Amino acid sequence: MKIAFCYPDPAATAWFEELRAALPEAEWEDWSADPTPGPGRSGRAEYAVAWAPPQAFIDLHPALKVLLNIGAGVDALMKLRLPASLMLVRLDDAGMAVQMAEYVCHYLIRHVREFDQFQTAARSGQWQQGRPTDRADHPVGIMGLGVLGERVAQAVRQFEFPVLGWSRLPKQVEGVRCFHGQGQLNDFLSATRVLVCLLPLTPETRDLLGQATLSRLRPGGYLINVARGGLLVEEDLIRLIDSGHLAGAALDVFRTEPLPAGHPFWSHPAIQVTPHISARTLRRDSITQIAGKIRALRRGESVAGVVEWERGY
Ligand SMILES: NC(=O)c1ccc[n+]([C@@H]2O[C@H](COP(=O)([O-])OP(=O)(O)OC[C@H]3O[C@@H](n4cnc5c(N)ncnc54)[C@H](OP(=O)(O)O)[C@@H]3O)[C@@H](O)[C@H]2O)c1
Repeated sequence: MKIAFCYPDPAATAWFEELRAALPEAEWEDWSADPTPGPGRSGRAEYAVAWAPPQAFIDLHPALKVLLNIGAGVDALMKLRLPASLMLVRLDDAGMAVQMAEYVCHYLIRHVREFDQFQTAARSGQWQQGRPTDRADHPVGIMGLGVLGERVAQAVRQFEFPVLGWSRLPKQVEGVRCFHGQGQLNDFLSATRVLVCLLPLTPETRDLLGQATLSRLRPGGYLINVARGGLLVEEDLIRLIDSGHLAGAALDVFRTEPLPAGHPFWSHPAIQVTPHISARTLRRDSITQIAGKIRALRRGESVAGVVEWERGY
């Protein structure tokens, strides 16, 4: 079995060595530094393990049957011309779900319990207790009840917030008031105060978080976007915060990454910015999962995380 590896990143060498050690029965070819044929790069691989490969990598592998994506989101791959017969397999969880749960609970609790305000007051030597907050006033709506969204919903439930969820198809998740489809989107939004976005970026979800949707959140709403920057219309968010309808946002993903110098998010007092770190791709967990999936596929078994072309995730 030949496996082509393509990860245009300084970390690629460590990934390549560990993948080779995890699947020593395979013949590995590294295309990371140079996506053209050459010594050790035959172009005859049937399997590929890749993150954000260039179009040339796909074009130079006509025999490719399965591409395993080193990540949960496949929006970057979907921009390429891929053969319709190619099976695309993404990471599912691989250590990311618990990190997402940590991130979302951190910003949710920090916002609802007003910890930033307490810290500011303490810096100026002020003992200001304020009024206690009632978690019933902060229903948390999770957009996307997939591998990551469901794990986040469980974690948020542990803190006894009312939890709502929205997905494409109907779903039942214990302790979560579930909504689905465009027809129930407005009901979901108007019952939500803290909105957590864990949707994939697809033609249907691009720009979904804008004036029309965010203005439906309950007054004093808060946005936590940990999915993809392309889901959010950034100017609309700023307008809704500045008008007082929304209280603020915690953003981990942006339309342009790294977030450009001078972007208004950097300095906005109600916006917390993190550099796309809410759920890191963990090398050991990911390689264990990828190696397990390749072996399962070789035995003719099905695997989790197969992307459906027509829905785009
Ligand atoms: N910031 C980071 O560090 C980071 C790390 C990892 C992943 N991510 C992002 O997180 C996303 C979610 O990952 P995941 O593993 O949880 O994905 P997933 O398991 O595929 O779940 C996607 C969820 O979104 C729902 N959905 C998709 N399109 C929809 C639409 N048009 N309307 C309503 N619901 C829709 C799906 O509904 P159904 O249940 O009906 O299919 C599903 O519940 C990834 O695509 C990636 O972009 C970000």
